[in-house]
Amino acid sequence: MKIVVIGSGYVGLVSACCLANSGHEVWTVEKDPKRFSTLKEGHMPIHEAGLDKLFEKCFNNTLFVENSLRTVPNAVSVAIIAVGTPSRTDGTVDLSQIETVIEELTAWCDYNLTIVMKSTVPPGTGQELMKKYFARLDKDFTYVSNPEFLREGSAIADWYLPDRIVLGSTNEAGIQIMEELYADIKAPIVTMDVTSAEMTKYAANAFLATKISFINEIACLCEKVSADVDCVAKGIGFDKRIGPHFLKPGIGYGGSCFPKDTRGLEALSKRHDHSFHLLSAVIEVNKNQVNLAVEKITKSLDGLEGKRICVLGLAFKPGTDDIRESPGIEIVAKLVSAKALVTVVDPIAMESFKAKYSQWKLTYCHEESLELGTNSQAIVIATDWPQFIQLDWCAIYNRMLQPRVILDGRNCLDAEKMKRIGFVYLAFGRRNDL
Ligand code: UGA
Repeated sequence: MKIVVIGSGYVGLVSACCLANSGHEVWTVEKDPKRFSTLKEGHMPIHEAGLDKLFEKCFNNTLFVENSLRTVPNAVSVAIIAVGTPSRTDGTVDLSQIETVIEELTAWCDYNLTIVMKSTVPPGTGQELMKKYFARLDKDFTYVSNPEFLREGSAIADWYLPDRIVLGSTNEAGIQIMEELYADIKAPIVTMDVTSAEMTKYAANAFLATKISFINEIACLCEKVSADVDCVAKGIGFDKRIGPHFLKPGIGYGGSCFPKDTRGLEALSKRHDHSFHLLSAVIEVNKNQVNLAVEKITKSLDGLEGKRICVLGLAFKPGTDDIRESPGIEIVAKLVSAKALVTVVDPIAMESFKAKYSQWKLTYCHEESLELGTNSQAIVIATDWPQFIQLDWCAIYNRMLQPRVILDGRNCLDAEKMKRIGFVYLAFGRRNDL
């Protein structure tokens, strides 16, 4: 099948590389000049495990890089839209990039093209777009909503082994073409109307965010009654109706999806005069996790001014260099504004961090550096990179200064071991008397 993928962010690049790897002929269109030239020179601009290898294998073979639709052969049967849908300050979603792409596609193509929406758009968007752009044309287009459930860090595995494929369309032919597109993927295909497919994406992310905020609230209560949240999460997770995933407490969720999509759903609810109390609480709880972390460090160091603190982790989660809405960076911001002397470390997100936050006066360190922790009074684990878990914590203890605090913002270290070494070990909802 001949396919054009518009937008080379995480979703666009993973889709383009995986489809090209499956033998489809794929053109990817990227307008950003810097990203386009990186791709055109055969380099992968993002860090996603295995993606560089797939790209290398398919580049100029089944995968072609363009910066405009004009140079894409007018014979593609499917156009996948994977451009950004950023949040506005009021939480509503900015659809301007989507509208530009639809305008370009409808002007460029004079035959029945299947337009597939992979960007996350608020429920109702597809219907509005079809009314606005297709109704006035004398050409036929097929519209399919195909929300994406890939996780950064495991996107390729998620592409080939998804829990399900959701397809929303008004047109049976649209569903058939998508089944052909995904012929090599074994997963249940759930078909529905366009608006329900759009809502499925928001509901999935909102539900996962709810699980995280729920366990964070339980963790707070565990601290008060001296229970252990890790045991509680395990105890409830075996219940198949609850499941073991997304029950890890800590400094909260970040990234380009959960924060934006929960705000987007909240804004949509308001627009429809519905008070989504539960979702608002989920967002509020998540925001507060960073404050709780800073309070814990402040208390343990008896203030922050002039205190030496090393923050481990800038990426919003391990396995990515994505720093968007990273809770670790919010912690760094709060420490800097309280005049702490901050060192930061991340295995791969350091460059993207430096490019965006050069205004802060910080010390940079490498995770393999023997300097890590030297003269720090506290260490904050903000991202649960495996490299951090495996550090030589005894050596770090010896390099640190009193009171040698560890704030484990991801409950990822062995609490007993840390205490045995001698650290003042703080986490979220873990018993302190162990
Ligand atoms: C999320 C969803 O998991 C994907 O299904 C979805 O496709 C994607 O958003 C999207 O909408 O594009 P992602 O943002 O890559 O994927 O990351 P997650 O693994 O879901 O983690 C999100 C955040 O939640 C991270 O900051 C992580 O540290 C945090 N988290 C996750 C917790 O705090 N506790 C948990 O138990 C799990």
